[in-house]
Amino acid sequence: MSKKIPQTMGQQFGRRSWAEPWKIKMVEPIRMISAEARAEAAAEAGYNTFLLKSEDVYIDLLTDSGTSAMSDRQWAGLMLGDEAYAGSRNFYHLEHAIQTHYGYKYIVPTHQGRGAEHLISQAVIKKGDFIPGNMYFTTTRLHQELAGGTFVDVIIDEAHDPANRHPFKGNVDLDKLQNLIDKVGAEKIPYVSLAGTVNMAGGQPVSMANVKALRQLCDKYGIKIYLDATRMAENVFFIQEREDGYADKPIAEILFEFCSYTDGAWMSAKKDHLVNIGGWLAVNDHDVFDAARNMVVVYEGLHTYGGMSGRDMEALAIGIEESLQDDHIRARVGQVRYLGDLLTDWGIPIVQPVGGHAIFLNAKEIYDHLPQDKFPAQTLAAELYLDSGIRAMERGVVSAGRDPETGDHRYPKLELVRLTIPRRVYTQAHMDVTAEAVKAVYDNRHNARGLKMVYEPKYLRFFQARFEKL
Ligand code: F0G
Repeated sequence: MSKKIPQTMGQQFGRRSWAEPWKIKMVEPIRMISAEARAEAAAEAGYNTFLLKSEDVYIDLLTDSGTSAMSDRQWAGLMLGDEAYAGSRNFYHLEHAIQTHYGYKYIVPTHQGRGAEHLISQAVIKKGDFIPGNMYFTTTRLHQELAGGTFVDVIIDEAHDPANRHPFKGNVDLDKLQNLIDKVGAEKIPYVSLAGTVNMAGGQPVSMANVKALRQLCDKYGIKIYLDATRMAENVFFIQEREDGYADKPIAEILFEFCSYTDGAWMSAKKDHLVNIGGWLAVNDHDVFDAARNMVVVYEGLHTYGGMSGRDMEALAIGIEESLQDDHIRARVGQVRYLGDLLTDWGIPIVQPVGGHAIFLNAKEIYDHLPQDKFPAQTLAAELYLDSGIRAMERGVVSAGRDPETGDHRYPKLELVRLTIPRRVYTQAHMDVTAEAVKAVYDNRHNARGLKMVYEPKYLRFFQARFEKL
């Protein structure tokens, strides 16, 4: 009686799956409320997913910011908080981790990313300056504008085309930058605002070749390069995967090289660094450091905590190490890609190639019957919540805000809904459920009518604006 039994599912089906490099030690229950309750909650929130109560959400893909699951080592680190007002031991651990992995000389801690954006913008931008960058980010650009600067988009054209499969859609177009230098003069450009990966373009990376070439051009004119390092670990994964000569180099080594072509960075540690709150600014120029360190005591807290508690800084120092482990980052980007592949296979229009932290649904194409002033992306995010309690985020005309000169809506080419994947929080089964929900909303796309804005705050309107159904 000999029956051939395959030893593994893999042998039976000829497939080899990958799995997350962690197991779950603690769980947090989630539930889906009824369709009627979701309709009520959505209306009460003015069809703005930022205004929903978290308890009314089933799978929360609003953001990957501050939503990561910390490791057992990070939780253990919380117990080692040195809560001294000045000179906390944990600050020196944090400083050491940043210096070791990012290579910058001087560190200023902040409560989160925008605290650091505020400091660097006020420290180096003068009224009338221009700040070129590889696509805007909401808070980054606002701080540059509040400091008297004007942001100029110098990302390659491919980034504005959701279907274009350029491997490094976050790259700076050096001709666009050269044109700006020729037009306004290098003395009016304090720095290039370089983000890796580019959030608003779909989590798209910058190549090592591009940052090297950018360094050369900037050196010719004495222009600094400051890096938004918020998702730089993810950026580095794409360099390892796609750029010649990096396949065998560890993530940490590639990161260090990339940063060496820049003059400093600001960080929202709530993303790559696997903590729920925190941020920092790091620079090589002592004068800029001096200015930022002086301002931090006005706006954030003493220069050895900057708005974080000692335990926050300890968890962050450990998170930096973990964020650069090759198996971590492969699984992180791999999970995002798994969701993207399901949607792509079903013909649902998303930004290609799939980026590091999120899937971006192309609302302009899905709702091609809705003009941009009916807020197609805002509508799509609302419909997804109504269908299945999944919370996503608008990244289109609402996020783009108004032109400070003319007061008109800015109409960005990209009208997207972001399904942002928190790190180490959801399993592949949650990705399956999400993909099926998106498919259901997509199949029902012809019935969507759009929204009307009925309340609009002055700054960063997407956070608090309210809408009514048309
Ligand atoms: N830079 C980038 C690229 C970001 O994505 C964010 C935040 C910030 C800076 C600001 O950092 O939130 O810590 O003050 N992005 C969040 C998001 C809000 O959902 O994408 P922060």
